[in-house]
Amino acid sequence: MKTVNLIKRIGVLTGGGDCPGLNAVIRAVVKSATIKHNYEVIGIEDGFDGLVLPDKTRNLTLWNVRGILPIGGTILGTSNRANPFEYKVTINGKPEARDVSKDVIKNVQSLGLDALVVIGGDGSLNIAHELFKMGCPIVGVPKTIDNDILATDVTFGFNTAVETATEALDRLHTTAESHHRVMVVEVMGRYVGWIALETGIGGGADVILIPEIPFDIGKVCQKIINRKKSGNKASIVVVSEGAKPIGGEVSILCAPPEAGGSAERLGGIGNKVGAEIGKCTEMEVRVTVLGHLQRGGSPCAFDRILSTRFGVAAVDLIANKRFGEMVCLKGQRIESVSLNDVAKGQKRVPTEEGLVKTAESIGISFGR
Ligand code: F6P
Repeated sequence: MKTVNLIKRIGVLTGGGDCPGLNAVIRAVVKSATIKHNYEVIGIEDGFDGLVLPDKTRNLTLWNVRGILPIGGTILGTSNRANPFEYKVTINGKPEARDVSKDVIKNVQSLGLDALVVIGGDGSLNIAHELFKMGCPIVGVPKTIDNDILATDVTFGFNTAVETATEALDRLHTTAESHHRVMVVEVMGRYVGWIALETGIGGGADVILIPEIPFDIGKVCQKIINRKKSGNKASIVVVSEGAKPIGGEVSILCAPPEAGGSAERLGGIGNKVGAEIGKCTEMEVRVTVLGHLQRGGSPCAFDRILSTRFGVAAVDLIANKRFGEMVCLKGQRIESVSLNDVAKGQKRVPTEEGLVKTAESIGISFGR
């Protein structure tokens, strides 16, 4: 890539699964680029797909981002199947994966982009890191409802998902109490249990099952039986989609490519846990799978503010030529880290401290 001297035009894309607050970041990028830095902004559609097929781009002005702050999803569209290093094509009716990363670099140049803001989860940020190593001037913004990105205290979208799931628990409590039932609620969180943990505490659950703590179903059932004996005829169990029993496996709905993305699709653990609880407690059990309800809809105020701070900070990184970095939240401060540090793994729930211990102190069981 050419050396960037004077920045005039930047691109922005949203990659991976959507989450509440993406539009708020896009708005902040366009506003601060236009008002503070006098940059032109090009919106790239459908994640990295828009850099493989560069007719999928459009100018973004203040007018285009008017009114989008409270709106869920992303006005640019997104994709979790557009990895330029393994781009899916069909040749003679057969699916193939091709490395089109060099085309992406060329397209960034031909679009006249002096820098690129990639708003994404661990998959998109890893792609951004690889493109940066090839010379593309990129900065990252961490998004995901799962809150599993290393090097930031929290991602935007997470708090909205927790709010949505907590409200669902409040509603399930009232019907559970009326019918003396056990309500099992399966929430998202493929490899980490942040959503289940915070929702379980915020929504007053009795049992929380997370991927980081493989569970003993006997202990889960005992907890519910003990509650019944002490007069609590209803119980609430929150299960991460990625939770698994001790010595068992996660419940996979379908593997890629059938899953339609780059990762397997999880699901089904809620029903399995519900069936076991029904058998051993002889109580009536109902299972609710919240699914994509947690991803859709308007971002909460916290996420709107965090998204705005991230968007502004990302454009500031560009102005300071701090390419290859990602904005992050550390305590109350917005800082930045190298994309290299982000690629090192996932931020998992610590099992012997913090919120898990808080939950156990008030009698919540993790089935251990
Ligand atoms: O990574 C975010 C997430 O919402 C996970 O919690 C969930 O397993 C996955 O995305 C679902 O992805 P899709 O929308 O492709 O089914």
